[in-house]
Amino acid sequence: MTTAATVPTGVPLAPGSATVEFRSLRRAFGSTVALDGLDLTVHPGELLALLGPSGCGKTTALRILAGFESHDSGEVLVDGEDVTRIPAHKRDAGMVFQSYSLFPHLTALDNVSFGLKMRGVGKDERRKRAMELLELVGLPQRAAHFPHQMSGGQQQRIALARALALQPRVLLLDEPLSALDAKVRLNLREEIRRLQQELGITTLFVTHDQEEALSMADRVAVLRSGRLEQCATPSELYARPATAFVAEFVGTMSRIPAVRAGESVEVFGRRHAVDGTLPVAGDLEVLVRPENVGLSPAVDGPAVVVGASFLGAVTRLTVRLADGTTVKADLPTEEAAQLPIGGNADVTLPDRPVLVDVRSGAGQ
Ligand SMILES: Nc1ncnc2c1ncn2[C@@H]1O[C@H](COP(=O)(O)OP(=O)(O)O)[C@@H](O)[C@H]1O
Ligand SMILES: [Mg+2]
Repeated sequence: MTTAATVPTGVPLAPGSATVEFRSLRRAFGSTVALDGLDLTVHPGELLALLGPSGCGKTTALRILAGFESHDSGEVLVDGEDVTRIPAHKRDAGMVFQSYSLFPHLTALDNVSFGLKMRGVGKDERRKRAMELLELVGLPQRAAHFPHQMSGGQQQRIALARALALQPRVLLLDEPLSALDAKVRLNLREEIRRLQQELGITTLFVTHDQEEALSMADRVAVLRSGRLEQCATPSELYARPATAFVAEFVGTMSRIPAVRAGESVEVFGRRHAVDGTLPVAGDLEVLVRPENVGLSPAVDGPAVVVGASFLGAVTRLTVRLADGTTVKADLPTEEAAQLPIGGNADVTLPDRPVLVDVRSGAGQ
């Protein structure tokens, strides 16, 4: 479908794409602080991924927005209005969960039209609308099927159609792809993104999978222990992570011991300017991505090649330094062939500011 989808009444499926703002949002469960002052704005029509490790508060944030969970303090504004006192069914939020949440005893069509029925929409009208939504998610031929007669991916598409049926102002997706096979997951990623852009609906997409977040979202908000660590476009987040936590959660990073040299650090005998803040005390490490590490064969080089994994055009080599530190480096596969396992190498870092952190303790 190439044009903006409309329901038979002529009302656009996504009548308005809302602005969503979390302001100093706090929620504790006993001594567990799920949200610790979350501040975040979602722009109209954007797909924002909420990314973070398990337990960092992603689901809680979504459930408070949808009205399924209470909050202790702070605000959730939808188009400027605090919605936390509005009952869930009046909030205009469509939600899709990780596990298949379809009503097992209802057909696909009845699942999609269930909310319309609750709203008192007449039988013919809701049938027409539900069929249109099934077409939107590419499953009109499954209208009469029950959930157990459909694959996981199909069930999630039906769940998506059901979430869109009431023309929500905001779409909330809580790890909707996590239970699916890798291939289905990739297809549905693209499908959800296409639909979201076609409808122009403001969407919050919760995931703990950094690749999923980076590949789908307009912006990615990284959460840590109930707080926002950084919110940026995927490329910005990858290239300029604000903290070591973001740097290591998004993409691969190696940590290499560094020596303090005034406001700079010294690594492999060379000085590097520091990107961001230099920790005031403690042993230091620089964080570098594999594509930014240079390796060249050198009989008396400080590093020994201990591993190689072929990734196509690029081969990822792992080298070990005298102190036991391992460093990953991506090299064009032809160059990597000059660095056999067991051979020595020189290591170089790019001539630009590096991210510095205090040495990570054992168990981190
Ligand atoms: N209903 C609840 N009762 C007790 N603790 C909860 C409840 N819901 C969430 N938590 C806790 O709050 C924290 C954040 O949970 P959640 O928002 O589900 O994280 P995420 O979705 O990022 O994995 C976790 O420590 C979790 O155990
Ligand atoms: Mg969760």
